Amino acid sequence: MASVFSPFLSVCLSLLLPLVVAQSTESNIRVGTTIAAIDSAKPWISPSNEFAFGFYQLENKELFLLAIWYYKIPSRTIVWYANGDNPVPRRSKVELTSDRGLVLSDPNDQVIWKSDFATGEVAYAGMNDTGNFVVYGTVSQRLWESFGNPTDTLLPTQVMSRKSLLSSRHKENNFSKGRFQFRLLEDGNAVLNTINLQSNFAYVAYYISGTRDAENSSNSGYQVKVDQDGSFYILRNNNQRYLLSLEDLDPSADYYYRVTLNFDGVLTLSNYPKNFTGISENWTVVKTIPDNICTTDFQDMGSGTCGFNSICTLKADKRPTCKCPPRYSLSDANDEYGNCQADFMQGCEADAHNYTEDLYDLVEMQNTDWPTSDYELIAPCSSLKDCKTYCLQDCLCIVAVFNENGCWKKSLPLPYGRQDRQVNSISILKVRKPEFAFKNPPMPFSYVKKNKNSLIILISVLLGSSVFVNLALVGILCMGSFLLYHKKITRNHINENGIQSSLRYFRYEELEEATDGFKEELGRGSFGIVYKGVIKTDSQDPIGVAVKKLDRVVQDKDNEFRTEVRAIAQKHHKNLVKLLGYCDEGQHRMLVYECLSNGTLASFLFGDLKPSWSRRTQIALEIARGLFYLHEECSPQIIHCDIKPQNILLDDYYVARISDFGLSKLLGINQSYTNTAIRGTKGYVAPEWFKTVPVTVKVDVYSFGVLLLEIICCRRNVAMDNDAVQKAILTDWACDCFLEGTLDALVDNDAEALSNKMKLERFVMVAIWCIQEDFSLRPTIKEVILMLEGIIQVPAPPCPCPLIN
Ligand SMILES: *[C@@H]1O[C@H](CO)[C@@H](O)[C@H](O)[C@H]1NC(C)=O
Ligand SMILES: *[C@@H]1O[C@H](CO)[C@@H](O)[C@H](O)[C@H]1NC(C)=O
Ligand SMILES: *[C@@H]1O[C@H](CO)[C@@H](O)[C@H](O)[C@H]1NC(C)=O
Ligand SMILES: *[C@@H]1O[C@H](CO)[C@@H](O)[C@H](O)[C@H]1NC(C)=O
Ligand SMILES: *[C@@H]1O[C@H](CO)[C@@H](O)[C@H](O)[C@H]1NC(C)=O
Ligand SMILES: *[C@@H]1O[C@H](CO)[C@@H](O)[C@H](O)[C@H]1NC(C)=O
Repeated sequence: MASVFSPFLSVCLSLLLPLVVAQSTESNIRVGTTIAAIDSAKPWISPSNEFAFGFYQLENKELFLLAIWYYKIPSRTIVWYANGDNPVPRRSKVELTSDRGLVLSDPNDQVIWKSDFATGEVAYAGMNDTGNFVVYGTVSQRLWESFGNPTDTLLPTQVMSRKSLLSSRHKENNFSKGRFQFRLLEDGNAVLNTINLQSNFAYVAYYISGTRDAENSSNSGYQVKVDQDGSFYILRNNNQRYLLSLEDLDPSADYYYRVTLNFDGVLTLSNYPKNFTGISENWTVVKTIPDNICTTDFQDMGSGTCGFNSICTLKADKRPTCKCPPRYSLSDANDEYGNCQADFMQGCEADAHNYTEDLYDLVEMQNTDWPTSDYELIAPCSSLKDCKTYCLQDCLCIVAVFNENGCWKKSLPLPYGRQDRQVNSISILKVRKPEFAFKNPPMPFSYVKKNKNSLIILISVLLGSSVFVNLALVGILCMGSFLLYHKKITRNHINENGIQSSLRYFRYEELEEATDGFKEELGRGSFGIVYKGVIKTDSQDPIGVAVKKLDRVVQDKDNEFRTEVRAIAQKHHKNLVKLLGYCDEGQHRMLVYECLSNGTLASFLFGDLKPSWSRRTQIALEIARGLFYLHEECSPQIIHCDIKPQNILLDDYYVARISDFGLSKLLGINQSYTNTAIRGTKGYVAPEWFKTVPVTVKVDVYSFGVLLLEIICCRRNVAMDNDAVQKAILTDWACDCFLEGTLDALVDNDAEALSNKMKLERFVMVAIWCIQEDFSLRPTIKEVILMLEGIIQVPAPPCPCPLIN
């Protein structure tokens, strides 16, 4: 009989005893008790209401964290959490089970987390007033406790033993595992280090307590403790304390204390007044380790507190903020502590096409340093100016740091950037001039339909540019003879009618005089005849100009002509021809352009001497850049509509400049275009001109594609005199050659082009993409540039499906 009773008694006793013992400091939670994750979920609260254990609703309100927080403090401060990496949805639950202790499961009864312990049967659990949640066994032994499984916070009376650690959360309100750790190592040192999140690999520590004594182990660290009074220290084997916070602490009767490894890597001891009055109260930082995380030497891999290429500054509360350098922005806009990336292209590959040395502006940042990532030191370096020059001349150099030790050239990625009064360095950051920026390629190569409404559409009479018409056109040519020209030209009214001062207004008689009575014709363009002229300016020598006499004068309502001229004059780009002035007098409408010395691309390409392959490829890129400016950097966007070699001019250095842009609105032409005569003629005209689809920037891309083939092959698109019929139409022939793998034929033994066949193939493929009949398949001009430069890959183009009448 006794054998029946004794087990029963012992169970009763084991249930009763702890209840009595623990009553005063812990609320008791019986086996089988659950909390459901719902909006009004009631947590388990410690007897004096200091701490709560239960579901904490995350910002998005749909996900819940099993956590412990201060129950009294208005701003809920979480001190422990179970499922940071795995927040659970609504209707998940936590249950105290007899065999596994706490079990967190989702609505499908999948176990998300449980309190692991070796052996034993659970009797009850309690939320202690210290903030420790304890699961007790049948003989009141502690089977599991939150103090023994810390997350990112230590509370008074909590002890951290060797080989245990605190791990930061990802962000203030994101409890996923972060990059920082505070560990008490086996050798007795307490350290702070970053880890690689994928592998958990710990990088070299950025703080080491030094509580290790190799010869005499009695000195080495044994525990990390926070005492009831808030003192924070390492306890050595010999029971001596190594204080981590040396401050005179406010009495713990009046303040809560906690030690938290923050998501930014700063270990803080902070306090909060217990007699707080409102919700405005905050935790006050008493001590931080390290003292200044921004100037801390991480000296290893991984980024510091801020992401790569970011700059750290310390706030008054000794916590860091991160900001991106000028013209850099966050890789993830929602992660201000994350990496920054340049809003522009840079590096040797991108710079390789520097047809000019002034691709970059320099931004000077005082008291700023990136202490690592050096690849060269120039020392001594006498001046900041020299340092700037060194960096500017080197395509590897992203930033140069100038200080008393010399000029340090640095390359990407740039970790541990800092700006601090203690930093005696000046950083010089290279940023691309906006016109060369060509920000981030849309990856992968994508065809997004542009849907801008404010299109300026130019409808050219010569739109067909049928070869026969083109042949008859001569570009603007200014022979360098203008200096011999010495006609007196009267001063004129600058800034008349509010037109910006760089744009000059000419009276008709002035231009008549400048062109010597419209004597020398330079060419006949799309909208009229172009004459050579020379004008005098206030300050400079007489300059040569090209005067375009517009032959179609439309009724001008509301001074639209002047408005448009002003708009055109505001377009400045090194690959556009500059408008210098205009005349608007009665029936006389004229535009005065700068004169470019090397004529049109047509004469350059199709002349007797074949220009070099490298110059030709440069020119192609220059035209693309000019178009990029018109399409993507002008507002409203400008569609040129008449891209052809006659409209590309070459300056003194044979740099290509686009002319005749923006003229459509100027001339008030907006009738829908139909011209049956042109149908089927292979020109520079995109097929959608013949259809009832809206005309977009892609018409320029088409024309550019044709032009690109002409540049590659140094021949006109349509060559009637050619013997071989299959070569008559360049676009068709080029596609054939591409499909048959006989690109060599296109460049006709041009050794330079053949020496880089990949580039040749790239250029041809880009051209074929551009001349796709389906305009939605054509790349944007930005993508064209990126592909020509080899920055994004060029997929093999499909057959352009030539227009069949
Ligand atoms: C519970 O809290 C009391 C003080 O409120 C403390 O003395 C006791 O050690 C705590 N128990 C545990 C298991 O943390
Ligand atoms: C927290 O951050 C991680 C990493 O960026 C992300 O995967 C996760 O979705 C975030 N969690 C929440 C609840 O936003
Ligand atoms: C180790 O240090 C303790 C006190 O710090 C000292 O008493 C002891 O003699 C030392 N032992 C040795 C082997 O140096
Ligand atoms: C809270 O306590 C502190 C220190 O004991 C005291 O200086 C302060 O005036 C108190 N504040 C309130 C609102 O009672
Ligand atoms: C408390 O902190 C929050 C956010 O950290 C801040 O917005 C608020 O101004 C602070 N309040 C006080 C009284 O410092
Ligand atoms: C780019 O510029 C550098 C320095 O100005 C020069 O040395 C280099 O030859 C240029 N490269 C090209 C391709 O023009």
